[in-house]
Amino acid sequence: MSIIYNEQTKNFQLDAKNSSYVIGIFEGGYILHLYYGAKIPAGEDFSGEYYRGYQASFIPYNKAVRDAGYPAFYPGNAPMEYPTNGAGDYRTAALAILNADGNTVTDIRYESHKIYRGKPRIDGLPSLYADENSAETLELVARDPYTNAVVTLYYTVFDELDAIVRSVDIKNDGDKAFKVDTAASLCLDIHSMDYDWIHLWGQHCQERALSMTPLEHGNQSISSKRGASGHFHNPFAALATHGTDETHGEVYAVNLVYSGNFTISAEVDAGCTTRLVAGINDHDFLWEVKPGDSFRTPECVLVYSGAGLGEMSRTFHRLYLDHLIPEKWAYTKRPLLINSWEAAYFNFDTDKLIAFAERAKELGIEMLVMDDGWFGRRDNDTNSLGDWYIYEKKLDLKRLTDTVHAMGLKFGIWYEPEMISPDSDLFRAHPDWHIHVPGRPETEGRQQYIIDFSRKDVRDNIFEQMSSVLDNYDIDYVKWDFNRNMTEAGSALLDAEHGLEFYHRYMLGLYEFLEKFVKKYPDLLLESCSGGGGRFDAGWLAYSPQVWASDNTNPIDRCRIQYGTSLCYPASTMGAHVSHRDNISDYNMRGCVAMAGTFGYEMDPRTFSEEEKALVKQQVANYHKYYDTIHYGDLYRIVSPYDGNQSRSIWSYVSRDKKQALLTVATFQRVFNQNLFVRMQGLDPEKTYFCEALNLRASGARLMNAGINLCDQLRQIGQAKEFFFEEV
Ligand code: GLA
Repeated sequence: MSIIYNEQTKNFQLDAKNSSYVIGIFEGGYILHLYYGAKIPAGEDFSGEYYRGYQASFIPYNKAVRDAGYPAFYPGNAPMEYPTNGAGDYRTAALAILNADGNTVTDIRYESHKIYRGKPRIDGLPSLYADENSAETLELVARDPYTNAVVTLYYTVFDELDAIVRSVDIKNDGDKAFKVDTAASLCLDIHSMDYDWIHLWGQHCQERALSMTPLEHGNQSISSKRGASGHFHNPFAALATHGTDETHGEVYAVNLVYSGNFTISAEVDAGCTTRLVAGINDHDFLWEVKPGDSFRTPECVLVYSGAGLGEMSRTFHRLYLDHLIPEKWAYTKRPLLINSWEAAYFNFDTDKLIAFAERAKELGIEMLVMDDGWFGRRDNDTNSLGDWYIYEKKLDLKRLTDTVHAMGLKFGIWYEPEMISPDSDLFRAHPDWHIHVPGRPETEGRQQYIIDFSRKDVRDNIFEQMSSVLDNYDIDYVKWDFNRNMTEAGSALLDAEHGLEFYHRYMLGLYEFLEKFVKKYPDLLLESCSGGGGRFDAGWLAYSPQVWASDNTNPIDRCRIQYGTSLCYPASTMGAHVSHRDNISDYNMRGCVAMAGTFGYEMDPRTFSEEEKALVKQQVANYHKYYDTIHYGDLYRIVSPYDGNQSRSIWSYVSRDKKQALLTVATFQRVFNQNLFVRMQGLDPEKTYFCEALNLRASGARLMNAGINLCDQLRQIGQAKEFFFEEV
């Protein structure tokens, strides 16, 4: 049993592998957050935590609770499990409902609960999956008696992972419609402010850069209002005790399973406590719930680590491999691909692509992906999005797919299904199908608009167009791109009362499409993309097992991008290729860095020199040799690319049985006269390992404690080397 309800204390204790989470039902039905951290015995008495003996003046109290014998209880400084707006708690609200009288006072109290093994999935939203052998779920039901909103807090706790998945359902059990103004997926009240606020900021070509600063009084937050999770902030954040590093420190991390507008905030109040809240961005959001209907928030994953950021990441990785990424793909080896984009951009035809495939085949590459430029009359990025029929003047798709398959290669194709070019047949036929506000000038991005995926007729048209290609040609892979963010976010079908439902309705439309798409094409490998990594989130991972991590393939920059991405997302999800562009490094480094992702090439294989061909063949062999260790093993980040003193990045993957480890060292700067001692992590101290590249036989204990000096292995700028250790 992972979830226990104690009748006497009225506390719920949720036990994960090494952590406990305790919720208390207090006088008057207040639902309080009592503890989250390292595992504790069940049945502890937390009654002292119900009160906070500070800040009593100017904090209102509930008279009935006071009269019942709790004079020191104030909702405004108590640790609340799912705090509401306007009823005594001035901190960030997780829930605010605009009622029929026009105010947003909301106040929920415990009503009932249910505990059961397994985990329900959410209709219409991406969600994690788990059966009764791996997880247990608590449904905590509360009611706002004024609006008759019935609020169900869902918690699924995993037996073998320090993770809890949360979401909230808000049902209208009354007879008047209300509007959900704010509905977070999760709130976590923590008793102190002695934490660092960690998040991943970025931009195009510089996605998921690490930021780590001490918490301050007031509100610190990350968010998106772009209609996509975006390049600029990833829907991931963590609080970590000061001094946390890869192996030490307590970490509370959240990651939203959502690809649209979001906010994650940490508010420190005058009492020096911290409230972490994560969910849909309540800016431009107001959702009507009619009597009998419900609103469901996206899921949010909460991970606890008592052993630093490394343990946090390994928990996310295992959780996503085992409970989020489509089962069909999580442990399926992905084809090693070559993509036409950086090799040819729009400048290709059937023969050129066949020539790419022939050369690629000789080198051991397994799939050719035809990127942008195969549809409508697309020779540049000014037209044809929305016209998803073959550009016959340029391409004989039947001959191409037949020839490529006859060679034994797989074949992939690029789409940008959510976009429409003003210069397209689809736009000329349906000038009102894109997102816009009639009468207002429209803001373009990359000469294109976003098509209104909240509309079923629009989705059906795109689905049919895609099907007419995918049903008639032999296609193994789709790259799904999204190359701009939303502006003038309005839908022709939403009236004035419901205009602010648009952003979320768009996401629901997108998810419905994806659900239908993966059901119809279960064997098709889907890779998500958004101008590189502009929509790298757990929502997408429920449909596509891999996401193109960045348009920047420079391996030094990639070390940073992939380091940030790896905080939350496993290697098998990170699209990473070797390319010609922007590179000051050697090919070997490009290969070693891309190997820490899905791996592939983005270059013209006809131009390879004999030396490059030999190198590619070696990389292809390494890809197969190291695949399981990287993709299914555990990641240990040893030296951070953000460590300014080091000028290098060092990481290793250790197989789950600890029989193999792949250590990768990448240098960014020439290193003179310095030792380079690397202490490995995660090995079995009792095992003996052999590394051929070093001709070294050593115990796990020595490799982890004494380390190995690699100073004579890497001396140049932009060099990397892989060291493979196997148990002997
Ligand atoms: C985006 C992607 C690229 C490529 C182009 C095509 O920028 O990130 O990989 O597919 O679109 O237009």
